[in-house]
Amino acid sequence: MKKNIDNLFYEQNLSPSAIDFIESSKVKSYDLADFGRHIGTVMSSGYHMRQIIGTSVELGNTEKVALNTETKNEDRVKELRRIQNERKSTRAFGKGMDLDDLSALLLNSYFVIDGSKASDRAPARRSIASGGAVYSIDQYFINLNVVGLERGVYYYNLQQERLDKLPIYDGKESLFEKRFADAFYTNIRKDWDFDSAGGVLVSVATLSRASCKYKDRGVRFALMDAGSIMQNVHLAAAALDLAVCANGGYLDDQIGELLGLIEPDEIALNTMIVGRMKTE
Ligand SMILES: Cc1cc2nc3c(=O)[nH]c(=O)nc-3n(C[C@H](O)[C@H](O)[C@H](O)COP(=O)(O)O)c2cc1C
Repeated sequence: MKKNIDNLFYEQNLSPSAIDFIESSKVKSYDLADFGRHIGTVMSSGYHMRQIIGTSVELGNTEKVALNTETKNEDRVKELRRIQNERKSTRAFGKGMDLDDLSALLLNSYFVIDGSKASDRAPARRSIASGGAVYSIDQYFINLNVVGLERGVYYYNLQQERLDKLPIYDGKESLFEKRFADAFYTNIRKDWDFDSAGGVLVSVATLSRASCKYKDRGVRFALMDAGSIMQNVHLAAAALDLAVCANGGYLDDQIGELLGLIEPDEIALNTMIVGRMKTE
């Protein structure tokens, strides 16, 4: 039967195996201890770490071509490299991140380049490349301690350059606290200083935006969009002297509940803890 193209966006365009992959790549609360042990075993094993770190493609006795380290546009490239060199994962946070810090971080990492160039067929370009310009990722900010901003969950509205507070926790602050603690299992995991960090940025994929056009391949594209945004957040943080660290340690179903996501279409792909640098 011919497909009705009008319904494409509302149909499930992912195959059952793609949906299975999304499910099987989740961290579940009942798996947490085993998963943590597995990661700990790999990290503490010299053999495994040598295998991971020392691996490169070995082609044997073939022609080797040295690359030229001199470049044109030297000054611009120097500045580019300076920020790239300063990019790092910072796991200690100072208190006092404010709305100016957060605004600068968001507005200089994921943004619309020229809104006036948008049409109904082609969106305005953004600060990342995106397969087919479908831009399947949205950024949410879980505010913990940003000065002058209420605790809760915010949607980063990049077109309007503002944060929109999710209303689900209005008058239900204790529900927010419970869901945050569940998603980041703060009762057992103590390595993040959630009392000092400003909050947590979450990259959420709306998979139908990519899959209605690219089917299962859209999942790959969504992952790449999320990675591009993450790199830009790192670079903006380096330029702004802010502290950021990606954090893959969260419970998927619980973060979905915290953010009010509709699964399997909307999924959190990664999180970043953000804040001020610790000075002392
Ligand atoms: C997808 C992703 C997930 C990560 N998850 C964690 C994490 O859960 N905990 C952590 O301390 N660092 C995490 N990191 C940070 C890496 O450990 C870090 O990027 C790596 O050690 C290289 O260090 P650098 O970023 O300072 O160059 C993550 C990084 C990425 C890209």
